[in-house]
Amino acid sequence: MDHFQLRNGELHAEDVPLSRIAEDVGTPVYVYSRATLERHARVFREGLEPVVKASGREPLVAFAVKSNPNVAVLKVLGRQGFGADVVSGGELVRALTAGIPADKIVFSGVGKTRGELQLGLEKAIGQFNIESSEEGRELAELAADQGLEAQATLRINPDVDAKTHEKISTGRAENKFGIPLVRAREVFGDLARLPGLNLRGVAVHIGSQLLDLEPLETAFAKVGKLVKDLRADGHAITHVDLGGGLGVPYKASEKPPSPADYGAMVARATEGWDVHLTFEPGRVIAGNAGVLLTRVVRVKRGGNGPPFVIVDAAMNDLARPAMYGAWHDFDAVSPTRNRMVANIVGPICETGDTFATDREIEALQSGELAVFRTAGAYGATMASSYNSRGFVPEVLVDGEQFAVVADRIPADAIMDAERVPDFLLD
Ligand code: LLP
Repeated sequence: MDHFQLRNGELHAEDVPLSRIAEDVGTPVYVYSRATLERHARVFREGLEPVVKASGREPLVAFAVKSNPNVAVLKVLGRQGFGADVVSGGELVRALTAGIPADKIVFSGVGKTRGELQLGLEKAIGQFNIESSEEGRELAELAADQGLEAQATLRINPDVDAKTHEKISTGRAENKFGIPLVRAREVFGDLARLPGLNLRGVAVHIGSQLLDLEPLETAFAKVGKLVKDLRADGHAITHVDLGGGLGVPYKASEKPPSPADYGAMVARATEGWDVHLTFEPGRVIAGNAGVLLTRVVRVKRGGNGPPFVIVDAAMNDLARPAMYGAWHDFDAVSPTRNRMVANIVGPICETGDTFATDREIEALQSGELAVFRTAGAYGATMASSYNSRGFVPEVLVDGEQFAVVADRIPADAIMDAERVPDFLLD
């Protein structure tokens, strides 16, 4: 459930008509709903209740910042008790800026630079998820040199097919992530010996937009077996990070498992582990809490196929359709009873700048407003300035009020950062 609903014939974000935001801020613009973020945070936590009951411990829910790094969004989730799962120094600074305590921050990613490892140590973050023995040794050395001890888990690669889009699968043997399960005991044993590192558990994340719990359960079973083996090797395993990945419905026909289904499965899979659990949800929290509000530039007819509804948003603002062939529902802000079949495209000069083909939508004309739904996760954060289009602003709605939480960055501001060198000035 989200708070983008029709009222008096017009789509609202909570109590704010979207046309008001379009008038005040311009289009395209990302619009987030605070109440929806909070609702999703609560539903996710409630879903984990069986886990809390079975383990007797409150898990850490670390929001995957990559899905929506806006500082105001992080602030909303931080106030719900969420920590942060970060994958770069930039995300780490954002989480801290939003007031998320360092000890609730976990640092994932295969390519953490020395500088980023150092930043994590300086800020005393709660956990590094180490992805290779090379990274583990570098982190241990850095920490030991400064008389510090890094809290860490080893991310394993369980070789499980997550049955999602190939580009967002992370848990198969050929993917770059984690340590192959067959080498995990050996690598863990080597790293656990190093001063500067408190290697206290394992981490796993097999992919995103998962619509089936079965691959997750298979992966968790492999983790459970590894925890036993590592304990048999004499290691104190106190922490397991189960990653993110729970899918959301991009269209009405998709029925992803609910957080309650997920929680019940986790409680079953982790029975008797006796560890502190961490979760890293992104999409399931932020996805349906945001829309991309756009205006129709014109409707172009007379080609071979259906008319082109050309909107002022493009693939640089919302990359998912061009990048993964992803579906985003497209709804008129002021729907009439009339329908049309159209290709929905942006203004960018390549055919890939297509949001939908042969899509039945509410009839739209030049100048009218519409939204791409489920754009709160992996939306604004994946934007680029391709075709010198600048960056779209972001707005957060809270009941009857709203605020711009990221300014529009116009194309000329980006150009201002460029220089013509002396050797070209003659
Ligand atoms: N933890 C780790 C280690 C991850 O790599 C990810 C996502 C998450 C947590 C959060 O996963 P979620 O709960 O959001 O599924 N740009 C793509 C999605 C890439 C996901 C990358 N990793 C898209 O637009 O679909």
